[in-house]
Amino acid sequence: MADLAFPMPRPAGCPFDPPAEFARLREQEPVARAVLPDGSPVWLLTRYHDVRAALRDPAASADLRAPGFPIVTAAERALVDHGVHPGFIRTDPPEHSRMRALVAADFGVRRAEALRPAIERLVDSCLDRVLAGPRPADLVAELAMPVPSTVICWVLGVPVDDIGSFNAWTRALVDAGSTPEQTQEANGAITAYLDRLITTKLDEPGDDLLSRLAEEHRRGGIGREDVLATAVLLLVAGHETTANMISMGALALLHHPERAAELRADPGLAPRAVEELLRYLSVSEFATTRAAVRDVEVGGRTIRAGEGLLPLTQAANRDPAVFADPDALDFHRRSKRHVAFGFGVHQCVGQSLARVELQVVYPALLRRIPTLRVADGELGLKQGEGIVGVRRLPVTWD
Ligand code: HEM
Repeated sequence: MADLAFPMPRPAGCPFDPPAEFARLREQEPVARAVLPDGSPVWLLTRYHDVRAALRDPAASADLRAPGFPIVTAAERALVDHGVHPGFIRTDPPEHSRMRALVAADFGVRRAEALRPAIERLVDSCLDRVLAGPRPADLVAELAMPVPSTVICWVLGVPVDDIGSFNAWTRALVDAGSTPEQTQEANGAITAYLDRLITTKLDEPGDDLLSRLAEEHRRGGIGREDVLATAVLLLVAGHETTANMISMGALALLHHPERAAELRADPGLAPRAVEELLRYLSVSEFATTRAAVRDVEVGGRTIRAGEGLLPLTQAANRDPAVFADPDALDFHRRSKRHVAFGFGVHQCVGQSLARVELQVVYPALLRRIPTLRVADGELGLKQGEGIVGVRRLPVTWD
């Protein structure tokens, strides 16, 4: 049989479902050979237990420099071709553990919870602007983009006065609608800005992550380029994912009015609703790329050293062997076993922060705009970009 082409299109009718092919593969060919846009081969894993086994196997390397490492998206290809390293997400222990340890404390549950009141005020101020503005409003521009971008600015220690320009650059950087020149310009502006900010933090440290990383650099623990790469990684990894969870989660709630009604009636359901939306949407489509550095046994097959593999978290999260009726959105199931944040040593470092943001956003949106509905207009569904999302979410209300 001819190799499958990956990425595969998502179904036209439902913006929330993964490619239909995933279900067939999970059943008939759980470790399947496919070809990436650049012509290189990759093994696709679609069963929950295989995906978790691969992600906790040290022989499945996350190091971008490992032979056979799969590059799926044009954006990642452009980075690699320009010699830009995406930071510790694409390294292995011990390099990975050392860098991750430097930021992990700033993203723990306690830190994330301490930010909750400020996040509540931020979300309220975004919704105040939406309500005071024209209808239809675009929830991507007014809510989904500014919330995660502003929150990561707080964590990094970007001064309040600079957050506006920072948000504009971030938007240009992650928006596939930007021209290559705009992306390049935004990347240059962010990098130059963060570089200057590192100098400021070295002179006048604050109680923020960038100051702690700058101090580690001053002590000789890490290079300045590591500080910069880590700041950019946190910005990009934390922004796109959370922004698309906000917009796609809102869209899913509007498409499932009975679920929205449940959450509106009982805001205490928010943590469970968030876990289920994370599972159901699995917005981070194929972040978990790996290459075998030794032969890896998975799903009854041997993946040879030097071959690329892609444990598909999105397929795992719809595996009926683990989640009964997996295509239904159900706030009462045990969703927390999902792998939307990955699994193993690279499991999302920002997950507690993302959870708090989402737990605040959805109930606030439903409470503040009870008659919210999708308005006419193009959503601009993202396809094959590594992230499930929409470019615009036009909404209106009574
Ligand atoms: C709903 C929102 C989010 C989703 C769905 C998500 C998803 C993921 C996934 C699937 C991975 C694993 C990648 C791999 O195994 O190769 C990951 C890692 C990572 N995420 Fe997130 N993420 C989210 C929010 C955030 C936030 C808010 C931040 C930080 C501010 C963040 C920072 C990171 C970093 C730094 C890594 C790399 C961790 C490592 O390699 O040790 N993410 N994320």
